[in-house]
Amino acid sequence: MRNIAVVGTGYVGLCTAATFAHAGNRVVGVDVDAEKIARLTAGESPIFEPGLAQLLREHWRTGRLAFTTDYADAIPAADFVFICVDTPTGANGGADLHHVRAAAGSIARALDPGHRTIVIDKSTMPVGSGEAIAAILHEASRADAPFAVVSNPEFLREGSALHDAFHPDRVVIGSGDPAVTAAVAALYEPFGAPIYRTSLRAAEMIKYASNAMLATRISFMSEIAHICDGLGVDVREVATGMGMDTRIGPQFLKAGIGFGGSCFPKDVKALAFMAEEAEYTPQLLHAVLEINREARRSFVRKISHLVGDIEGATIAVWGLAFKPDTDDLREAPSLDIIRDLLSRGATVRAFDPVAMEAARRVLPEVVYCADLYQAATGADAVALITEWDTFRALDFALVRSVMRGQVFVDGRNQFDPTAMAALGFTYRGVGVSLVQVASLADAGVPVPAPVSV
Ligand code: UDX
Repeated sequence: MRNIAVVGTGYVGLCTAATFAHAGNRVVGVDVDAEKIARLTAGESPIFEPGLAQLLREHWRTGRLAFTTDYADAIPAADFVFICVDTPTGANGGADLHHVRAAAGSIARALDPGHRTIVIDKSTMPVGSGEAIAAILHEASRADAPFAVVSNPEFLREGSALHDAFHPDRVVIGSGDPAVTAAVAALYEPFGAPIYRTSLRAAEMIKYASNAMLATRISFMSEIAHICDGLGVDVREVATGMGMDTRIGPQFLKAGIGFGGSCFPKDVKALAFMAEEAEYTPQLLHAVLEINREARRSFVRKISHLVGDIEGATIAVWGLAFKPDTDDLREAPSLDIIRDLLSRGATVRAFDPVAMEAARRVLPEVVYCADLYQAATGADAVALITEWDTFRALDFALVRSVMRGQVFVDGRNQFDPTAMAALGFTYRGVGVSLVQVASLADAGVPVPAPVSV
């Protein structure tokens, strides 16, 4: 059993704390947000993440997990201190490290000179942050408090963060000291994942490059979807065919309204900023971000085109969270899309299984509904934004009957265009367009039947 402190109780910190407690360690979570700590000590999870609340409660009961606002309660006894505070986008596009610096200063002042503490950067931090944190620790700690700084980035997906934490594809550990790397690697032994040992800076860069690569795949497929729309091709078939090439692989090829969330937009921007700082113009990264913005704008243009006059139209928005199984609205496509619809004079009726409370705070103009059918009632168009599983098995005849119009715009390509057309919808996906397919067929060009998913 090792003593671990986790600084920052956002979704990375809580998942890290819960998984290491589950692996048999004694973990103390620290956060400056007293309200959050009060909820956590009452056995409540402040965020919605499948399985997290149960795991926190379980290890609150086993006594292996505790929470505090006081660094002095957590840091002196810890052998390992994980920094899991947020690194939001700063005014210049780079990562804002205020919280990291503040956390490092507080850790430094609480370090116990009696033993070596390994400080592990888990938050996504720009290349060079490890050295900057070491400098803060050096300056602010008592001269004789021994410490080491390691970069060990997280690769957790919201909605499946616990699964990812227990079954990582790889664990990246960056440090200049093999003994320190070995100590951190031993922490991860119970998870049985491959360990990749790197330099401190390479570990920091691996995180940014990984997220930028995944975001690039999504923007690439957005571009392919636009071309497919113009040529009467179903982008889902294209993605399947591409993904069968083992050099490409099937993941992150789903075209739709693009990526959102707390990581991809922020990290691609921060990497672009780092590139500029290093006097390189990151043309591809800029294009990835611009294509992602355009995916949202073109989705609204599609709705507008199909509805005729968006001013005075009623649009049902199905799903608000940036992806299923989370209540997270950060950089969610729904926010830009709804704001665009409202600014064009539409009435928006929305439903999401968990994100409505959060949405109400930022978009009070929206009419929030009890379910999908209520949202669709009187609507000229339904726009599917988040592909929640519960949105699949629906009574579409009922949806059609409560609507005023018949337009269904599917931002996640969830439904079969032929089946939706048969139900009386004017259906459009992203890169999946029945009209163009039909017009090619009318022109005598042989067209394969659309696939069903
Ligand atoms: C991501 C990374 O996957 C994770 O490793 C990192 O630590 C944090 O950022 P997350 O933001 O939780 O995780 O979600 P993810 O499942 O990766 O999806 C990100 C966005 O891409 C979502 O908006 C999703 O809808 C979109 N996406 C994903 C697509 O549009 N198409 C795809 O094929 C896959």
